[in-house]
Amino acid sequence: MRSAPFTLLLSAFLCAAGCSDSGDGDGGETTGTGGATGGTTSGGTTSGTPSGATTGSGETSASSGATTGSGDPTSASNGATSGSGGGATTGSGAGGDGAGGSDGTGGGASARVPAASASTLREAGEKANPPLLIGAAISGGGLGNNDYKRVAAAEHNYVTAENEMKWDALEPSAGNFSWGSADNIVNWARQNNMKVKGHTLVWHSQLPGWMSSMTGKANVEAAMRRHITQVMGHFKDRLDHWDVVNEAVQTDSDTGVGNPRMRPTVFYNQIGESYIDLAFQIAREQDPKAKLYYNDYSIDARNDKVEFVYNMVKGMVDRGVPIDGVGFQMHIGPPNNEAGGADVAANMKRFTDLGLEVLISEMDINRCGGVVTAEEQLTYYHDIVAACFKEPKCTAVTFWGINDGRSWLNGWSGALCNGQSSQSLLFNDQYGKKETYNRVMNALLGK
Ligand code: XIL
Repeated sequence: MRSAPFTLLLSAFLCAAGCSDSGDGDGGETTGTGGATGGTTSGGTTSGTPSGATTGSGETSASSGATTGSGDPTSASNGATSGSGGGATTGSGAGGDGAGGSDGTGGGASARVPAASASTLREAGEKANPPLLIGAAISGGGLGNNDYKRVAAAEHNYVTAENEMKWDALEPSAGNFSWGSADNIVNWARQNNMKVKGHTLVWHSQLPGWMSSMTGKANVEAAMRRHITQVMGHFKDRLDHWDVVNEAVQTDSDTGVGNPRMRPTVFYNQIGESYIDLAFQIAREQDPKAKLYYNDYSIDARNDKVEFVYNMVKGMVDRGVPIDGVGFQMHIGPPNNEAGGADVAANMKRFTDLGLEVLISEMDINRCGGVVTAEEQLTYYHDIVAACFKEPKCTAVTFWGINDGRSWLNGWSGALCNGQSSQSLLFNDQYGKKETYNRVMNALLGK
């Protein structure tokens, strides 16, 4: 449970183990945060650094009983009316315009109708009405393992590259792009009828030194424009979901508490807060139909950080900035926030009331340090996924990895794991289903 001691512990602990703010040379930032997510490319013990993730190419089939038709809930009509849904077939999702159905409950969109049964998470998501994308962070290293590939494709229909589409991986030197590792993941996903979300166009972390040390507004704007344009252009026919800006806000504690403010990145320092609007506008010019998301951590339930992010995003909506939705990373437990299902639901509603989609974009629940107990973890997994499931405008749940052994948290400073397993995901080291999996499945079946 969220508790004062937890917050204090984390506040005190923050970055003691050496979080770095990726050295973007900001001025005057003295609080030493920078974030669990703000570090350099080291971190995950086994997930591989972005540039190093070259394995897993040459994959061809990895079948896995991929079901048909990857329904895209983001374009699916809702319109579920009552309690049928049991017999829904796979992957509809085409057609319709996303208008909310009427179920006589009055007000907004009707509830999502669950499948009567499903044997995989993916099937449960595809059979729901409207469908819900079930995602996973996929690493190039992981795709070198047959069990990993089998589970990843059988259980998910939505892919985020764990590192391979970050700035340092795609544009390691100015104007020179390197597509191989990212293309491998995108091609594998498409062979398995999975959608891909591009992650992430503008972020302070995993940013190459030449970019993080750049000075001059015009220079940084030009570099940002080139990066967004080139990257979206390269993947244009294959991707239409993008995390455009990631983690633009910080607080004193990575739990989202204390002094919320814009993160002093090279983009913010050189351009000012308008870099966010600009990034979305450039992305929209590049692809008029793509879904464009803002993504951040510890904004999963009410706290200082999400209050700030809400106002920021509301300002964007009011100004007509082309933003389609907000990703709640949902890294639960050290060093990030905890969030109960009811709080997550209330928080999501504030954003959907702005006319936006919401997504759970990077979910894991860290057991290291004993901060989150086994029982709490199960409750969180069920209740948080259920909160998304019940909200038709919550269009995806993505888990940040496949199995515990490969979790980035195992080696992440601040996560209190020190190389031990974070036990944070749905599959164990042998790719067996854990009880966390069962709780997620229940939530997806409306139980
Ligand atoms: C993490 C990866 O999982 C690690 O392998 C890497 O070392 C650091 O980045 N927020 C994000 C993700 O948006 O991109 C981060 O991924 C986790 C936190």
